This record gives sequence, C-alpha cells and structure tokens, in this order.
Amino acid sequence: MASSFQQLLSLLLLLLPSPLREHLSSTSHVAVDEFHPIFLVPGVSCSDLEARLTEAYQPSVPHCGAMKGKGWFGLWHNTSELLAHDYVQCFQEQMSLVYDPAINDYRNMPGVETRVPSFGSARGFRHKNPAKTLIAALENLGYRDGDTMFGAPYDSRHAPPVPGQTSEVYSRYFKDFMEAIELASNKKQKKVVVLGHSFGGMVALEFVRNTPMSWRQRYIKHLILVAPTLPYGFLEPTTTPLSTRSMWRSFESSIVNFPSPAVFGHEPLVITKQRNYSADEMEDFFAAIGFSEGIEPFRRRAAPKAKSFEAPMVPMTCINGVGNKTPLQLVFWDEDFDASPNAVYSDGDGKINLISVLAFDKEMARQLGQNKQFKSIKIDKAQHSTIVTDDFALNRVIQEIIEVNQIF
Ligand SMILES: *[C@@H]1O[C@H](CO)[C@@H](O)[C@H](O)[C@H]1NC(C)=O
Ligand SMILES: *[C@@H]1O[C@H](CO)[C@@H](O)[C@H](O)[C@H]1NC(C)=O
Repeated sequence: MASSFQQLLSLLLLLLPSPLREHLSSTSHVAVDEFHPIFLVPGVSCSDLEARLTEAYQPSVPHCGAMKGKGWFGLWHNTSELLAHDYVQCFQEQMSLVYDPAINDYRNMPGVETRVPSFGSARGFRHKNPAKTLIAALENLGYRDGDTMFGAPYDSRHAPPVPGQTSEVYSRYFKDFMEAIELASNKKQKKVVVLGHSFGGMVALEFVRNTPMSWRQRYIKHLILVAPTLPYGFLEPTTTPLSTRSMWRSFESSIVNFPSPAVFGHEPLVITKQRNYSADEMEDFFAAIGFSEGIEPFRRRAAPKAKSFEAPMVPMTCINGVGNKTPLQLVFWDEDFDASPNAVYSDGDGKINLISVLAFDKEMARQLGQNKQFKSIKIDKAQHSTIVTDDFALNRVIQEIIEVNQIF
C-alpha cells in the first residue's frame, strides 16, 4: 500500500512542470539565499492609511474634530473600530479627496494629512486577505519579511500616473520604492522581483514604467502581474450605496478603470431603453448617473492613462484567470442607475474581461524589446481575488516565482 502510494506520488511529480517538480522533490535545490528579493504590491484595500488633523480642519459635525491636534491615527485600518466609535461619517469626510483643476491633481480635504504606514514591509497587510495566503506561501518557501520579502503598500485612493503625468502622492511613493529596492538589491547583490496583484498590478507596472530605463535594467529582475487591472478597463455591476458614494467617487481610483476606447471602441457597454453608452461615451454616462464632477478629472487624468501602452521593457509575466463569467455589458433598462444592473457576460476572471487581457498580451508582443521577455499565463477557473488564495492557482503563481528565480 505504502509503496503504491509512493509510486503514485513519483508519477504525479513527473507530471508536474519541471521547476515545481525540482522544488517539491528536493527543496535544497533552490536555497532561499539564492532567491532574488521580492517586493509585494497588494490589492486595492490592503494598504492601511493614517491621518492627522491640523488646525485648518473644519469638521462638518463637532465630534469629527475629536482627533484634531492629537497626532497620527489609523484612518483606514480597522472597519469594526469605525463602527464601534460612530466614526463612519467622519471617516468618509477625512478619506475624501478633492480634485484641483489648477494643478490637475488630487489632494486631501483642507486640514487632513495622510500617510501610508509601514512602507517597505509586508506587516501592514500580512493579515489581510488575499495578501495573507500569498505571504504565507512565500514564507513557506523561506522568504522573510525585511530580508528577502518586502511590501510596497500605497494610498489606494489615488491612481498611479502614466509616464508624463504628475501625481504628488505617487512621486513620493515611487521615490521611496526605488530607494527600498536599491537597499535590498545592494544588500543581497541581486536584482529584485516586483509582484503586484489586481490594482497593485497596475501600481507595480506604472512604478516600473516611471523609473529611468538604466535604473530598471540595473535593479529589476522580473515584474509579475497577477490579475492586474490594466489600462483597458472593465465595468462592475455593483452600485455604491448612496451613503458612501460621494467618498468613493472623490477617489481618483474610482475613475481609472473604465473600459478603454482603444479596445472596446464603439461597442455598446451600458445599455438602456433610451440610449447606449460605448467606451468613448463614458463622459455622457457620468453625466447620466449624476457624476458630472468626475468628467474633468476623467478627461484630464484617466483618459490619457488608457492611451499609454509603452511596455515596461523588463522581463515580465502576466498571470490571469479565465473561464469565469465576466461582465462585459451592463443593462440599466429603465435608466435607474441606483438599481443593480443586469450584466451580459463573456470570459475573464470574473472581474477583468479576457478581451482586455488579450489586448494587453498583443500590445506587449508587438513591442520590440518586450516581446522576447513577456510571458502570459492563463489559469482556467481562477477568479480575480482568489487567484492568490485558491491552492491550484496560488501554486501556479508560486511556481512562476520559483521559475523566474532560476533564469540567469
Ligand atoms: C479591530 O477593532 C475591534 C474593536 O475595537 C477589535 O476587537 C479588533 O481586535 C480589531 N482588529 C484588528 C485587526 O486590529
Ligand atoms: C443598444 O445596444 C443593443 C445591443 O447591442 C441594441 O440591441 C439596441 O438596439 C441599442 N439601443 C439603442 C437605443 O441604440
């Protein structure tokens, strides 16, 4: 019995792709100190945010001013605490951003200062799903936070700029990120791997694209994007509740993921009885849903992002889920944009449409200098957020991390 089990096991090992097979059959083969340091850029709600209220802060109701002059406190940190302390209204007010047309950038409300704690470490998001499972798997391989594994949390209210755009928040973030990479790389005498998931995939891609070419070539071993929200965009069949809507809509991240005309062109994406909206009519759609204030920042900041396709020119792997029902069109038949729409589905990871993924693959394959160092992996039935938590998908992601460490 035991021996037939062992036979079965060796047979299974043989069926595995070779790098994983080597890893599982002799872990000594990939010693951890041979690994390149890895930097994780987590998904959209994983990074904490701290705030400090200065004298300039004018609370809408007195109790929102309770933290005024009392130093830094966790603003986006623990939602049950917000509820427990009746801080939801204050939270929304202090989280909200203001678009400033004079500088074409977003800033905080007057008197609110913010910062992302624990930059450089994964400890700020190590207990949050889905990052948690990925971090545990990396630790299983032998990665250690602060030595071979690092975190690059970010302020997810803001969207990363494409080359040529400015963003005060991301200028600082990119600078910190470069310094952290230089430090880790110099210490280990190795280039680093940067891995981003979902919105963090877009942040990771834009980070690399915003660094000087010689810097990238010197420090970046590989860029791994797992289910990244790419510039080609998608539609989500969820409507934000009225109570938190103005806060969400004030974020730059709320306007950057709309479908791009470059891919979806004149196809109707939002369907109503009266009229349809295609990717190049998103401004009309904003007006129809009562979000006119989003039009200018959309035109000046989001639309240019959807036209920026230069490849990062570093070795890159894109890992996406396929084989899931993924919204392509939304139907608000009676033009009630507050009701949940019906969706028309096509293929993808449940959130990001395969059409966008294939357009990105094609674009990367077309660009000389990227085409020979681009790999696209599709994992059947892997879904957007569970691609780094479901064993079958996570194993494939881990296998790719092992593989890129073995490329010389
Ligand atoms: C969040 O806050 C609640 C209530 O104060 C507390 O019980 C819980 O332990 C906190 N969770 C974390 C992760 O800090
Ligand atoms: C909207 O698009 C749908 C699906 O393509 C089409 O059947 C319908 O005629 C269009 N409606 C209008 C008002 O153009």
